[in-house]
Amino acid sequence: MSPTQPTRSLLVANQKGGVGKSSIVAALAAMVAAAGLRVLVMDADQQANVTSSDLGVEGDRGRGLSMSLQFAHPLEPIREVRPNLDLIPGGAALAVIGAIAAAAAQTGMDLTGNLVSTLNDLQSAEHYDLILIDSGPGDAPLLDALLGTARYLLVPTRDDDASLIGVEYLAARYLRARENGSVIQLLGVVLFDLNPTATARNPEVFKQVEDLLEGSGAAPFETFIRNDRAAAVDLRSRHLTPNELVTVSAEQAKTRIQRLRDKDKKLLGRRLWSRDPNGLANDYQALTREVLSRIAAAEKNEISGGVA
Ligand SMILES: Nc1ncnc2c1ncn2[C@@H]1O[C@H](COP(=O)(O)OP(=O)(O)O)[C@@H](O)[C@H]1O
Ligand SMILES: [Mg+2]
Repeated sequence: MSPTQPTRSLLVANQKGGVGKSSIVAALAAMVAAAGLRVLVMDADQQANVTSSDLGVEGDRGRGLSMSLQFAHPLEPIREVRPNLDLIPGGAALAVIGAIAAAAAQTGMDLTGNLVSTLNDLQSAEHYDLILIDSGPGDAPLLDALLGTARYLLVPTRDDDASLIGVEYLAARYLRARENGSVIQLLGVVLFDLNPTATARNPEVFKQVEDLLEGSGAAPFETFIRNDRAAAVDLRSRHLTPNELVTVSAEQAKTRIQRLRDKDKKLLGRRLWSRDPNGLANDYQALTREVLSRIAAAEKNEISGGVA
């Protein structure tokens, strides 16, 4: 057991890329921060999509995080990239971790131990209400360190076979992490990029995920993230969180009407691709509620001495 794994730390992982990990981390973080709770995002992906695309932050390209994994250097987040939201940026500097992990056994380097201790040091100074960790595709040694660091695991997937197989791979890695002493708990699987009107197909997909999770004690989240390609493009290209997109979209609608009235069509700025990002923002809001209530239930279960 390593009970020192920081409470309220949630890893979002699936070895398959393009299943919504980064989008979900950014959206959950922004929703929780907007509700007045303090959030830390750790971007443990070389591609740094959360850092640069979703949140629009330059960062140190993962150098700080890489130094903390290798040498237990203190973690220094970028403060307040949004109100209540701090960020440990990701990036290319994390690429060395795989190579280092191969030699770690000989050199006595303990990536997981280093990350757990530096994150605990940070947490005892900052008291974040939630720590969200994004992870990249592949990169097994780093993923194993993250599975040994976080308390909870959330696995997003699309509904195609390749993504669902990714869930199975990750479930196997998760079980291995627990065998190796991690106390991480699978919180659930989130379906991402689902067609909200596919009323015949979707129950089938949920059933498939339930079957995949059988015996794990976890269930798919009731909330799924709907397909909204136009909103997804706006979010990334403008570095907006879902709530910010809703605000920008409403403001644009207002000024458009005003400018059309003024017959000053030349002044119209570049339009958003999305017509109504509210549905997608509501999905993320509902998912946030579900995630927080599952964490609360798991904590209650721990306090009452229930089995994890
Ligand atoms: N609601 C959505 N519907 C359709 N595509 C989306 C949606 N949200 C995000 N995307 C797009 O899906 C792709 C993968 O998302 P991303 O969060 O980067 O996944 P991962 O982190 O697992 O690689 C990105 O191109 C993103 O813009
Ligand atoms: Mg990603």
